[in-house]
Amino acid sequence: VYKFSIKESDRIYSRAKKVVPGGSQTFSKGVNQFVEGFAPKYLGKGKGSYSWDVDGNKFLDYIMGCHPIILGYADDDVNQAVIEQLELGSTFSLMNELEVDVAELLVDSVPCAEMARFGKNGADATTVGVRIARAFTERDHIAFCGYHGWHDWFIATTDLNKGIPDFNEKLAHQFTYNDLDSLEKIFIENKGKIAIVIMEPLTILEPQKDFLNEVKKMTKHHGALLMFDGIITGFRF
Ligand SMILES: Cc1ncc(COP(=O)(O)O)c(C=O)c1O
Repeated sequence: VYKFSIKESDRIYSRAKKVVPGGSQTFSKGVNQFVEGFAPKYLGKGKGSYSWDVDGNKFLDYIMGCHPIILGYADDDVNQAVIEQLELGSTFSLMNELEVDVAELLVDSVPCAEMARFGKNGADATTVGVRIARAFTERDHIAFCGYHGWHDWFIATTDLNKGIPDFNEKLAHQFTYNDLDSLEKIFIENKGKIAIVIMEPLTILEPQKDFLNEVKKMTKHHGALLMFDGIITGFRF
């Protein structure tokens, strides 16, 4: 068995356990997601597709910041742009032209996008979509397929549902990827009540039999809105 030192990782982790709930600020980066005693716990630096832990071990990093870092760590062009902006200041009291530049770039690159609204994280973005759909359709129920963040309307359907009122779970219905019948069943059992179909368009399986177009047709037929959640795809598809 190949074993490298993770002494420094362990030293930092013993400090973290005293001041960070669960030892990690992000569930998917925490020690219980990896092999305790073997996997590194803290990364110190990264360049391109490699990262180095705090003990100096080098890794080919398949995770890439839970996926979105498609240009690799410390990309020279990205770094240069950030450095230039740091010199100018940030978090201003009024708007900045960059907001318009990025919105235009998104609208130009995503065929169905007419406008862009920025959020601080994925859960906020999906929640905005769900709220808009509920307001627009004047319906409360949701059909979903995938992971959509920690806000009540979604996380109520998982095991991490402590502290969340029961009605949330009753409003959200899970369907299965590549199984159109599982979505139709939800529409039939909740006739006229589904506000939105929210799904990850692609994760590990390719869509079969024109699945995404069929979902779109069915959703439209039932008067609901469709949201593709691409939070972790990072423009790969
Ligand atoms: C597909 C998808 N949607 C939404 C989220 C929530 O994003 P965040 O953790 O940034 O709130 C995630 C997080 O992993 C995700 O994978």
